[in-house]
Amino acid sequence: VNISHDNSRVSAVLPTGESVDVLLFGATVISWKDRAGNEKLWLSDAAKLDGSKAVRGGIPLVFPVFGTAPDHAATSSLPQHGFARNSKWEFLGKSSSESSPSTSPSDASVKLDFGLSSATLDEKSKSLWPFTFSAIYSVTLTTEGLSTGIVVTNDGQEPFEFQTLLHTYLRIKDITKIEVTGLEDSEYIDKVDGAKTKSQSGAVTITGETDRVYTPAKGPSSPVIVSEGGSEIFSVLRDNLKEIVVWNPWTEKAAGMGDFEPKDGFKNMICIEAGSVRGWTALEPGDVFNGAQTISY
Ligand code: BG6
Repeated sequence: VNISHDNSRVSAVLPTGESVDVLLFGATVISWKDRAGNEKLWLSDAAKLDGSKAVRGGIPLVFPVFGTAPDHAATSSLPQHGFARNSKWEFLGKSSSESSPSTSPSDASVKLDFGLSSATLDEKSKSLWPFTFSAIYSVTLTTEGLSTGIVVTNDGQEPFEFQTLLHTYLRIKDITKIEVTGLEDSEYIDKVDGAKTKSQSGAVTITGETDRVYTPAKGPSSPVIVSEGGSEIFSVLRDNLKEIVVWNPWTEKAAGMGDFEPKDGFKNMICIEAGSVRGWTALEPGDVFNGAQTISY
């Protein structure tokens, strides 16, 4: 496994050609390619990769609040989606399993670990969220897919509550040909219709601005599948993440985002976001939370 690392990003390439690029800013995965070099994630042409703004595309990491939470005192003054995606993470190192003569090249994999804690957090974020915590975010690339997972530890003396979500922008060819299955009969909150609670019937298709928080009825062991023109292109499995957010900004919302380019790029992306965002996860001193997703194709 070939790994390169500088002050701003870590890249890994498997012997079979699959690759991943992770920015230290936000520990944001900004590229994930299959062995033929096909990009699997959507990244805006106008995304800021210099740390001036959260990255528009890839996999921004949402923590410790999803959206904004005016009614939740401890997180109410944090920026939208929290500080993790705007913080500089530390590269903690890699573990890889190399292919050897006795195994095949397709057995190679690599795990990249990134860390953020109250000790390394910038002063401004610390003053807005004064809890003692540490987080390790792991990005694992295999020949079958990509896993990303967060481990949060309460290292302090008082409990805290948080939400977290993996804001994955999947790259697709044509939003009008997309069907998302695995959410049938699930309850969802429709954020574009006054946060009404609704129930999904059949597959999800996208025909306009879509912003929904699903609680999958089938439970976490059942995958959410994205199909395009009838063929399955992604499968998302969750571990300890109860919800799936489905987001597409469509025309007007995309037009209103300065860092969203090209403007018709909404046709080439769908966000399938595994998270724990309905209600709050409480962590007592010394307790650890583990949440992850595996995306395969
Ligand atoms: C989604 C939210 O997860 O993220 C949407 O459900 C939001 O409401 C979208 O618009 C993008 O957020 P941001 O802060 O990256 O523009």
